[in-house]
Amino acid sequence: MSKACSELRTIWWDRGSVIIIDQRLLPHKLKYLRLKSYVEVAKAIKNMVIRGAPAIGVAAAMGLALAVVNLKTNNREILMNRLEKAADTIRSTRPTAVNLFWAIDRVMEVARETSSVEELKKKVLEEALKMAEEDIEVNKMIGEHGSKLIEDGDRILTHCNAGALATVGYGTALGIIRTAYRQGKKITVYASETRPRLQGAKLTVWELLREHIPVKLITDNMAAFLMQRGEISKVIVGADRIIAKTGHVINKIGTLSHAIAAKYYGVPFIVAAPVSSIDFKNVLEEVVIEERDVREVLYIDNVRIAPKGVEAINPAFDITPPELVSYIVTERGIFKPSELRELCK
Ligand code: MRU
Repeated sequence: MSKACSELRTIWWDRGSVIIIDQRLLPHKLKYLRLKSYVEVAKAIKNMVIRGAPAIGVAAAMGLALAVVNLKTNNREILMNRLEKAADTIRSTRPTAVNLFWAIDRVMEVARETSSVEELKKKVLEEALKMAEEDIEVNKMIGEHGSKLIEDGDRILTHCNAGALATVGYGTALGIIRTAYRQGKKITVYASETRPRLQGAKLTVWELLREHIPVKLITDNMAAFLMQRGEISKVIVGADRIIAKTGHVINKIGTLSHAIAAKYYGVPFIVAAPVSSIDFKNVLEEVVIEERDVREVLYIDNVRIAPKGVEAINPAFDITPPELVSYIVTERGIFKPSELRELCK
């Protein structure tokens, strides 16, 4: 498990099981979990032990690999049925990030093209491992492209965690920040805490502090005021799904408020995401915005903060319309929201 000591790595394959960081325990404890079955992987995604669109995509692929590699059978059909069942289970964990569905479809396609038990097991695992390595490469490319938009002295607001922890490694929004910082640009990051689950406060800040990248934690409702005072020069966020046809960006709840404030105060609003986060199939109306347990709103770290009897609601994502988005940075370059269709392979 030494990999995690230098460059932060969120997930990897280890001798027939999957190792992940238990993100629920951060920033207080860096603990790794060994997952041995696709059911454990599905639970980890659902309970946000692992989270972030690209990370759950790779977790899904590795979950499918777990479903077949350890199964003892000489019958390819039994393996395929098992794989379909695992795919259904993993698909039902979280509805919004498109990477989950993209990853499952990609692995299933590879599996369908095989003709023997050995080939199926080998190809499914190879594909999952390839996707993990690709993710890091893609993030570094996003970092290279996106860093061209970052100037010396920038004060960058980011929301939620679109860092190494949300991917296999390096990160998307934080990938751009990492690259710019490593290029020697003097930057300060403002991390909004991201209620209700506090990914900004717990994960983003932890990740940046590890690398000594200057970061200040703010509550979500401070962002507009800081923009009004001229203290934020750019906003960079990740995405759970971007609709290719229209350029709508679906990301962690609170992103929309930052985008509206950024537009009002003339601050560039940048979205960093791999092409695997772009939905080339569905239109906005088809996207399910995950509704999570309202206890996430009523409690903070198991301490109840609201009186008994109050109702709460808890949509986990919001939708930023394309007119609020200045740039979308992918591994294939920098695009305007209206140019995304060009990326369709
Ligand atoms: O609910 P989460 O923590 O999985 O939400 C994560 C986000 O919204 C991230 O911003 C998004 O997945 C992009 S991660 C590179």
